[in-house]
Amino acid sequence: MRVLVIGQGGREHAIAWKLRQSPLVKELYAAPGNAGIAQVADCVNIGVADIIELADFAEKLRIDLTVVGPELPLTLGIVDEFQKRGLTIFGPTRLASELEGSKVFSKEFMRKYNIPTADSAVCVSVDEAKAALKSMKYPAVIKVDGLAAGKGVVIVESSKDADEYLRLVFEEKRFGNAANRILVEEYLTGEEVSFMVLTDGKKFVPLAPAKDYKKAFDGETGPNTGGMGSHSPAVVLSGQTAADIVKNIVVPTIDGMASEGRPYTGCLYVGLMLTESGPKVLEYNCRFGDPETQVQMLRLEDDLADVMLKIARGNLGDTKLNWKKEAAACVVVAVEGYPDDFPKGQEVAIDPIDDEAVQIFHAGVINKGGKMINVAGRVANVCARGATLSEALGKAYAAVPKVRFEGARYRRDIGYLALQRKQDSGALPAVTS
Ligand code: AMP
Ligand code: GLY
Repeated sequence: MRVLVIGQGGREHAIAWKLRQSPLVKELYAAPGNAGIAQVADCVNIGVADIIELADFAEKLRIDLTVVGPELPLTLGIVDEFQKRGLTIFGPTRLASELEGSKVFSKEFMRKYNIPTADSAVCVSVDEAKAALKSMKYPAVIKVDGLAAGKGVVIVESSKDADEYLRLVFEEKRFGNAANRILVEEYLTGEEVSFMVLTDGKKFVPLAPAKDYKKAFDGETGPNTGGMGSHSPAVVLSGQTAADIVKNIVVPTIDGMASEGRPYTGCLYVGLMLTESGPKVLEYNCRFGDPETQVQMLRLEDDLADVMLKIARGNLGDTKLNWKKEAAACVVVAVEGYPDDFPKGQEVAIDPIDDEAVQIFHAGVINKGGKMINVAGRVANVCARGATLSEALGKAYAAVPKVRFEGARYRRDIGYLALQRKQDSGALPAVTS
């Protein structure tokens, strides 16, 4: 079949790399793709938000399956447009992707269906936000309702911090209409873990849990980023906790979305805090995690094209996924300055590696004028599989020097704390809906 992947990051490179291995996939396209994706797919220069052009392209080439990477086209309704034209596409509809696209919607949804999450208040003005903060302790969390390119959540340490941020939001209108409403939220403590399932709206199958390292600097310090590294198994998650997450969070979310008349299909990402009183939802994402997907693709045994097609056609049935027993790890190489101000257009070299268990997925790099240059802060994802997490991390770190550019920076402690724990088996709960 002919498959189209929409996106341009490391996540989409990992998905395209995995799809390329499927005997079902005869032709693979990507829009717009990146320098790494171009090694496994034909890239077409259409932006991820150009929904009509993407649908025209899929119609013209008679694409059998389209896979959407990032959230933006999903929240803009790409799935609705493709389905209207009878095109098969993997991802949630516009209404279903509001789970990520509107934090107010997702919070109200969680309340309605008793899904454990942080306490919070919806506020539409500085005064309301200040009043809500009075009844909370610091640190507290402020979240912009709409999509804000990963910059819409801040942890405020004091009322002074909060006032400054509220001024940016309501007076400077830094986030435009995305911040017409905000959430003022209780700060949760514990370990974070990412739990994803693939679902056709009724049945679901979990992906191997992964841990993502969001903070910019070693020792979990500095600002939040899109993710500076990951590994799978997550290590922090026991089989029992995974079963609780499925029962108390995943099932009510999928069933709740169906009862809301917004059946959710595609990849449902639940970002969780494992608190003393149990797992609580920090956020939903309506797409695969980045860089969690990179390590999951290295461990997935099954044919990704086959399972995605089943989901897009609404017949997942009792499909199970099989995972290599080995662990996988990912180290993100970013540009100095990321996530704030960083240079673009730096020339990048990525040396080839002749080992299937070590993959360098390209993130924000494109080919231009015969050169490879960076167009985003996260440049490459150096990933490796190994018999143990320690071996996977060792192989990934050993390959980091293969990514060469001025100002390359990466965290040196990915997986460090996880290695100090007794490694779990990565067992998945044997449950589906
Ligand atoms: P979100 O986009 O809502 O997941 O927020 C991004 C990041 O902010 C999360 O991955 C957490 O690290 C942090 N975060 C969000 N909400 C909370 C919370 N209620 N308590 C503590 N940290 C949070
Ligand atoms: N790694 C976090 C995310 O994909 O949102």
